[in-house]
Amino acid sequence: MKERAERAIADCKRIALMTEEPGRTTRRYLTEPTHAVHALLRERMEALGMKVAVDAVGNLRGMWRPRGTGAKRLLLGSHIDTVPDAGAFDGVLGVMLAIEWVGIAKELRLPLAIEVIAFSEEEGMRYGVPFLGSRAVTGTFDAAMLMWRDADGETMDAAMRAFGLDPAKIEDAAIGDDVIGFVELHIEQGPVLEAEGIPVAVVEGITGQTRLTLQFTGQANHAGTTPMHLRRDALAAAAEWITKVEKQICKTASTTDPGIVATVGRVVAEPNAGNVIAGSAELSFEIRYGASAARHRWTKKLLANAEAIAKRRGIGFDWAERLDQQTVRMDRRLSTMLKAAVRACGYPVRTIPSGAGHDAMVMAARVPTAMLFLRSPGGISHHPTESVLEEDVEASLNVGREFLVRLANRVG
Ligand code: GLV
Ligand code: MN
Ligand code: MN
Repeated sequence: MKERAERAIADCKRIALMTEEPGRTTRRYLTEPTHAVHALLRERMEALGMKVAVDAVGNLRGMWRPRGTGAKRLLLGSHIDTVPDAGAFDGVLGVMLAIEWVGIAKELRLPLAIEVIAFSEEEGMRYGVPFLGSRAVTGTFDAAMLMWRDADGETMDAAMRAFGLDPAKIEDAAIGDDVIGFVELHIEQGPVLEAEGIPVAVVEGITGQTRLTLQFTGQANHAGTTPMHLRRDALAAAAEWITKVEKQICKTASTTDPGIVATVGRVVAEPNAGNVIAGSAELSFEIRYGASAARHRWTKKLLANAEAIAKRRGIGFDWAERLDQQTVRMDRRLSTMLKAAVRACGYPVRTIPSGAGHDAMVMAARVPTAMLFLRSPGGISHHPTESVLEEDVEASLNVGREFLVRLANRVG
């Protein structure tokens, strides 16, 4: 497994160089470097004898179907888009490991059909909405999104066409009933496994999340001539609300709803100039918590706070929901099989919840779904220092071998 682990890590590092921004890894949905990623994945898959195609939403899909296997296939995969200034392993490692799992199944001559999916979009960076790839695969892609625009004003429809895709064919990307289930491998992106000295863990469930965009609209004006009490500063209003969010969540929500988290990670002020009062400020907002009712209650309360702040300051306020994804549990049967595989390899059997979102949470609504986490050194992710230990990658491949053998026995 050492050679497989080394290759998977080296490929992740090569793919990290395929980027929109020189010097750092940023690869949003269907941007130019995605073509290079597809080329590398295609090469890896075809070398194994897989049949490769790109679906209409831009997922690269490789099919491994040994002669004599039944109609049903196992789906494996993760995503290949990234956050800005990303690490090399979030998503991409899950794709490379999926390909290595196919290599293992081939080597063992397992009578198991496997489709590897490199999901085109999971982070929600380009259109403010995540899981575009897995939504198409599960038949839940909302065509109204095609008219949404990115920061450069390009619609999703136009971006797809520019990439060489036909948005009219998105429905064809959906899976049928000939699927055994879906397994996603992913780095933990948190500190728990490292603290406990454990290489891998089986995911129990994935925390629900709601994402919004908010818009404060004031009046741009001269920074030198406009007295403080006569300003309608959209950025100051946004700032007041951001600190209100932090206070409400830290002081109040965390006592009634422990573990709840909320984040404003993106602010776009216009015209964004040092000597001009901001005329508008657009913010991202996301809130994550298991219970949907509490998540919705806090969202409503924080929106009421934003409205009150805007009103007091004489500023316009508007918002739109981008995502409301409920908490999902992973499939018991597939997870039990993963745990048995972990045990058979001699690793501690640890289960863990996921605070991060994954394509698995969309897939889980359609097919039995399970996830395996690999320890994240330093607990760091969504950052260029994100890493993984080679020994843990080997561990995940050993687990893969045990899991695939068990699954092939059940299916065959
Ligand atoms: C995915 O990275 C997420 O935002 O949880
Ligand atoms: Mn991510
Ligand atoms: Mn990810």
